[in-house]
Amino acid sequence: MNVRLEDLELLEAVRDFALDHEHPAVENFKAAVRDWGNDWIDVAPTRLPAAELLDSAIEQAIPETRGLLETFARHRQRLRWEQSYKQKDGLVPDAMLACYGFAEILGKQGPFVSERIRAGIGIYGPDIVYPAHRHHPEEIYIALAGSAIFSVGQENDVEKSAGDVVYMKSNTPHGFRTGDEAFVIYYLWQGGDLREISSFD
Ligand SMILES: [Fe+2]
Repeated sequence: MNVRLEDLELLEAVRDFALDHEHPAVENFKAAVRDWGNDWIDVAPTRLPAAELLDSAIEQAIPETRGLLETFARHRQRLRWEQSYKQKDGLVPDAMLACYGFAEILGKQGPFVSERIRAGIGIYGPDIVYPAHRHHPEEIYIALAGSAIFSVGQENDVEKSAGDVVYMKSNTPHGFRTGDEAFVIYYLWQGGDLREISSFD
């Protein structure tokens, strides 16, 4: 099967968002984004309530982030919306599972298959607590809409909002709590197993 044009539009949006973002921490990820790989697989759509928060997120967006959010909103019905955690594992609060999800465009499980880089967007509803967790791949968040209070390593209670970058070194504990609005991020992972499940201490 040939790659779908709609998926190419998503690939371009996700790739260009990283490549156009001027920030020292993002620079180290650009080579992997540029040379992500060359395989595409057809991915079946799945749904999650969190995807419905994209509309309010677009209203909260800044000019630099609105276009990417609109692209995801346009393709929302055909995306694979996922969660990394299950209720039975008890790793994150039930309130988080009720209202969070991510859609991946680049990564081990496609639709654009990469062993080097993982990229997509994550949506977290209002008043969510994402407990401190860590993983071996290093990670970037670029906030697209809303805001959250972060703890990363030894730094606590740092507010991040649309346009801000958060960098997590390999294996550094990080967590956040969202505010009154949905918090939407663009994420990048590189190094190690790109589908590693986080550890919670
Ligand atoms: Fe993370």
